[in-house]
Amino acid sequence: MKCCFLIFIFFTTTLFASPQEDSQNIRYFYQQLFPNVPLDNYADGVYAFDVDANNAWQAINEFPPYEFDLDQGEVLFNTPFSNQKSYADCFANKGIAIAQNFPYWNDETKEIITLVLAINQCRIDNHEPKLNYESAKMNYLTAYMAYTSRGKRIQTKLPNPALTAYESGKNYFYQRRGQLNFSCASCHIDNAGKYIRSEILSPALGHTTHWPAYRLKTQKLGSLHTRFKVCNKLIRADIDAAQSQSLRQLEFFLSYIANGLPLNGPSIRK
Ligand code: HEC
Repeated sequence: MKCCFLIFIFFTTTLFASPQEDSQNIRYFYQQLFPNVPLDNYADGVYAFDVDANNAWQAINEFPPYEFDLDQGEVLFNTPFSNQKSYADCFANKGIAIAQNFPYWNDETKEIITLVLAINQCRIDNHEPKLNYESAKMNYLTAYMAYTSRGKRIQTKLPNPALTAYESGKNYFYQRRGQLNFSCASCHIDNAGKYIRSEILSPALGHTTHWPAYRLKTQKLGSLHTRFKVCNKLIRADIDAAQSQSLRQLEFFLSYIANGLPLNGPSIRK
């Protein structure tokens, strides 16, 4: 009963709320649902509140299966392009410890720039072919860049011109879709912490903290947008492409509400 009441409050306050209110409402909602989970732990997804899953996960983390991928990422990151420049030349602080600043609103191109998009832009600027957004190489690179940013706190800025992109991302999150007519919120807010088949549903707060994630099911790294696609497939909805405008705006919304949470990618997920 308490839970239904909370959901009612949540929905009546959500639709017309400002971004700051969105963030506060979402945090308050989860705080009531998981009173013992400290805010920072939301970076750990379901492992923040499920003790059994957390124990198994901690054990796997002792010898993380993404270790080799991380090494490959570092090599790729440091290998010069054919013009002798490298990724370090494209980013602030030579690309080290900067993942917390993505995604951001680019006022010149009027769009959301994710880390993945910026990596490809760097390649284009240096006359290198683009990488497939969901390729192993892209995941190795983002794994390495995320690793150097561990512990940094998400800093998603929301200047006025970015409000429309934020609202689009938010609408995407609450919009029901697919043959099952679910929204992201149906699972990751209304039913967070509950089981769906053999999986526990994670809270949306913290959804952007830990990418790429090594999935034990697929035995490889996958990106945040790959996960969005998997979720849309679960509910038999249209699959938006990785790095499409709509998925970047969705990432922007989720990242904004997670402001201040620590990054801890790459990570391991079931
Ligand atoms: C039918 C329920 C369902 C819907 C609807 C759904 N998901 Fe998921 N999602 C899951 C399950 C199950 C998992 C794996 C367990 C977990 O981490 O929540 C998952 C995982 C995720 C993760 C990874 C969490 C982590 O800690 O690594 C993200 C991010 C995510 N979903 C985002 C979304 C977004 C955005 C939408 C809307 C486009 C969405 N999901 C819609 C069921 C759903």
